[in-house]
Amino acid sequence: MTHVQSTPSSPAGGAPKEAGAAKGGTALYGGTSTRRVTVRDIAAAKRRGEKWPMLTAYDAMTASVFDESGIPVMLVGDSMGNCHLGYESTVPVTLDEMTMLAAAVVRGTKRALIVADLPFGSFQEGSVQALRSATRLVKEAGVGAIKLEGGERSAEQVERLVESGIPVMAHIGLTPQSVNAYGGYPVQGRGEEAAEQLLRDAKAVQEAGAFAVVLELVPAELAARVTGDLAIPTVGIGAGPDCDAQVLVWTDMAGMTSGRLPRFVKQYADLRQVLGGAAKAFAEDVVGGAYPAEEHSFH
Ligand code: KIV
Repeated sequence: MTHVQSTPSSPAGGAPKEAGAAKGGTALYGGTSTRRVTVRDIAAAKRRGEKWPMLTAYDAMTASVFDESGIPVMLVGDSMGNCHLGYESTVPVTLDEMTMLAAAVVRGTKRALIVADLPFGSFQEGSVQALRSATRLVKEAGVGAIKLEGGERSAEQVERLVESGIPVMAHIGLTPQSVNAYGGYPVQGRGEEAAEQLLRDAKAVQEAGAFAVVLELVPAELAARVTGDLAIPTVGIGAGPDCDAQVLVWTDMAGMTSGRLPRFVKQYADLRQVLGGAAKAFAEDVVGGAYPAEEHSFH
């Protein structure tokens, strides 16, 4: 039995000091609150005009590092397909895989709101299937919210989950589960008609009760317009600087991903090189007899 997100009495250590608690309340990042972040805190941040960061996480240990660093919202994204499980895309990820890794992320964190993706095939049949899948993630993994892809086309599912007491983060613009239909990962919302559709999608998910909406790979000007038009926060990825929040896939931002990164990614570390260097140093010590040394041995 996994445990659900709880409200801890001890602080998630290491988070920076109060940084952005303008106009009452405490900042999502850098604030003084030590309890689990909720969707009400997210709404309050939008009212304060406060920007906030979100990272993906797929395991307990990495999630605990981000939690201690003060990241207020973590997404157990189906990007786990490409970034953790070795698939070519997000399409093969199953609800079982999502449930297992989401539970690990919940166990590794004390403060962050944990959002889990509904994988491809776990909600497209309709609101009954969506509710069944989301209920599993809330009950078995213990996540605090669900994310699902689609605007107008998924509004019915969003509404059903919200009515049932499950907070929903929507995801519009480029929706990676449709990679086979797109034939790649093209920028969305270019041209008047596509921009109007994106605005309709954004309004549809807000109307359906979503507490936030991810805007992926859309022109910065359009993302700014959507952000200004909505009462709920927008979470940008490749959507320019004017979104209320920004999300990155952790393996991209920390330099674990091999090969070319999308243009919107900023790489903050080179973990692939650090880890590779540690593995080589260990191998050389073993081959050369330097490890284990006396201090690592028992008599
Ligand atoms: O799965 C994921 O990581 C995502 C983000 C890119 C928003 O959906």
